[in-house]
Amino acid sequence: MTDSHTIQKEEPTPQSRDKKRMLSGIQPSGDLHIGNYLGAIKNWADRVDEYECYYFMADMHTITVRQEPAELRKRSLNQLAQYIACGLDPQKNVLFLQSHVSAHAQLAWVLNCYTMFGELTRMTQFKDKSSKYKENINAGLFTYPVLMAADILLYQPDYVPVGEDQKQHVELTRDIAQRFNSIYGDVFTVPEPFISSAGARIYGLTSPGDKMSKSDPNGCVFIMDEPDVIMRKFKRAVTDSDTDNPVRYDKEKKPGVANLMNIYSTLTGKKYDEIEKEFEGKGYGIFKPAVAETVIDALAPIREETVRLIKDKEYLDGVYRDGANRASYIANKTLRKVYKKVGFYQG
Ligand code: TRP
Repeated sequence: MTDSHTIQKEEPTPQSRDKKRMLSGIQPSGDLHIGNYLGAIKNWADRVDEYECYYFMADMHTITVRQEPAELRKRSLNQLAQYIACGLDPQKNVLFLQSHVSAHAQLAWVLNCYTMFGELTRMTQFKDKSSKYKENINAGLFTYPVLMAADILLYQPDYVPVGEDQKQHVELTRDIAQRFNSIYGDVFTVPEPFISSAGARIYGLTSPGDKMSKSDPNGCVFIMDEPDVIMRKFKRAVTDSDTDNPVRYDKEKKPGVANLMNIYSTLTGKKYDEIEKEFEGKGYGIFKPAVAETVIDALAPIREETVRLIKDKEYLDGVYRDGANRASYIANKTLRKVYKKVGFYQG
């Protein structure tokens, strides 16, 4: 790096910011379930004390797979309502919709020219999705990670909270950022993936070996499920044929029971040995409905608040508008810097 490449930072460097910055995207691809809630969102509310947080709905990523337009529009709003109802405060966090901030598409184009074809062919998600959607292997599916890199680098975040499946994309983002910085100077903060240790890992009720997922609706409890649906799903949860004090925590031998105990423990704050005592001498016919009741009680206020918010379209639109303004301010600063660096004439 030569001196002529060193740029005047208009913004404080990450080190001098009061708080570290965090950014993550979520695809508006379906309703939230208790795996999302207990595993992640429940803890997000507390993060704002320590971090400056940006969360956006990645609707531009969602169309890499064909969508029903009316559905996508509806989900983009409903999911915002669900996140807010789960405790994500739009005053304290910047919440926005990806397609509202044009800088994402603009930076993605530039970064396309700094990402290698070979790198993109190595992405495991591309390999998975292109074998799953053989009839629609579009260029967007291929360049998906570049848009994601743009999403991230625009905001100069220190951390990017993602699940295990997205880590490779964050690694690529780091490579792109480093490549760009090595040519043009210190333009991008090189972010780190943030794998939170807080939060419970919740498995499917009918397949306790797999993460809870909407692709298995019977084993998946959505936060908007009606109480009787929740009860039914828990009553059908896979356990085992133990009869003698069956409520015991043994993740290896009794994964279904361990999963139910984990859900119960996360919601009540009770430890596993307390739960074992509570259900001593009792069978699954008592235990499963008890877990269901706890989940029903915990979700009731979230469901009510979501329903209330969805009716208040004006408020939700306002949250998105305000979020887009706040996000654009930061994003456009980075974009201007990038445009200048690569040689776009600005007059
Ligand atoms: N690809 C992510 C997913 O499917 C969503 C996403 C898009 C994202 N842009 C992002 C996550 C930027 C973190 C940062 O889960």
